[in-house]
Amino acid sequence: MSDPLTPYGNKPMVTPIVTAVNYEYKSFDVLQKITDGEIDGYTYHRDDNPTVRAVEKKIASLEDAEDCIVCTTGMAACTMVYLTYLQKGSHLVLFHDIYGAHYKVSLILERFGIDITWLNADESDEIEKHVRPNTKMIFLETPSNPLCKTIDIRKMSEAAKKRDILLVVDNTFATPYHQKPLNLGADMVVHSATKALGGHNDLMAGAIACSKAHYNRLWFTRQAIGTTHDAYSASLLERGLKTLELRAERMASNARAMADFLSHHKTISRLMYPGLPSDPGHEAAARQMINGFGGMMAFDVGKSIEDAKKFISSLKTIYHAVSLGATETLVCIPFLTTMLYLPPERRTTFGVNMNTVRLSAGVENTDELIRDLDQALSNI
Ligand SMILES: Cc1ncc(COP(=O)(O)O)c(C=O)c1O
Repeated sequence: MSDPLTPYGNKPMVTPIVTAVNYEYKSFDVLQKITDGEIDGYTYHRDDNPTVRAVEKKIASLEDAEDCIVCTTGMAACTMVYLTYLQKGSHLVLFHDIYGAHYKVSLILERFGIDITWLNADESDEIEKHVRPNTKMIFLETPSNPLCKTIDIRKMSEAAKKRDILLVVDNTFATPYHQKPLNLGADMVVHSATKALGGHNDLMAGAIACSKAHYNRLWFTRQAIGTTHDAYSASLLERGLKTLELRAERMASNARAMADFLSHHKTISRLMYPGLPSDPGHEAAARQMINGFGGMMAFDVGKSIEDAKKFISSLKTIYHAVSLGATETLVCIPFLTTMLYLPPERRTTFGVNMNTVRLSAGVENTDELIRDLDQALSNI
């Protein structure tokens, strides 16, 4: 009988959502070939799923990678990377200016005998001083979360390669439209696909774009621990990816317009956006980012957290919410949200102030966004 989905070989325009947990084996011979990896095929959802696999191939192509592993969340992707490549006695280099949940994961890793050094993004220039014979991995974000600091990926990869250290770059803030870390020497690229890759605040997913050899090792971890993505979310992610370029372009142009406006505003005492020539990371960002500088920025409002709260409470178009990379412009105070679980002294060591606001540009009308910032700041 012909396949009901493709009776005349004409494929559906959208990858079907395959909800099957298990698949009927046509023969022991086919089963053997699938489990040996000789042919592409499916046996059980925790191993692989065709809807998820289609998305993996699309993200791999966006990142110029040989392959990609998609999983349940961005933090699952980061944790899978740690679990796959670190062991008791390994040394891991992390940066303070990184998504807050890494701190929690670091406490778990330390319980398993992994040694961690935390650096400020500014210390990346002296990375050689901080690596040791047992350093196995450097994990960084650029632009970083929340302060949008830039780390030179090529420089880091040259230092890492000399000592056989894996360089992992979280590319969530930039998106592959603005930055392709694998082409700059990184070994693996991690995404919270919950953010711009999905793009609509309606799914959670993580992704690791990498070589085929890394894919095989990460696949083993995912299959073992069961962080496999579900087909419904994968389908939403596939839809999001179709408009990534359009959205990323608009997010970046909106961010640029808002950054220009904020840079001249008297109540903004500090503004961090890598697209501004005055930004300390601008030169490195201009070398490694393409098509603009992304949609993320951070700025200090007035003098106190009360000023920042007043500003946010006065916004009418821009939403007060966590997450980023969505169609709507979002703001939050990292001190009270993404960094809430860090011990208080860690929250300030690398430059986040109580009145620092993180902004993720959406795709709305640019003038409307500027008007909203203007009226909310006029209350400070
Ligand atoms: C840069 C970055 N990486 C990773 C994550 C974790 O992603 P998820 O929330 O999908 O687990 C986040 C979440 O905000 C993030 O901002």
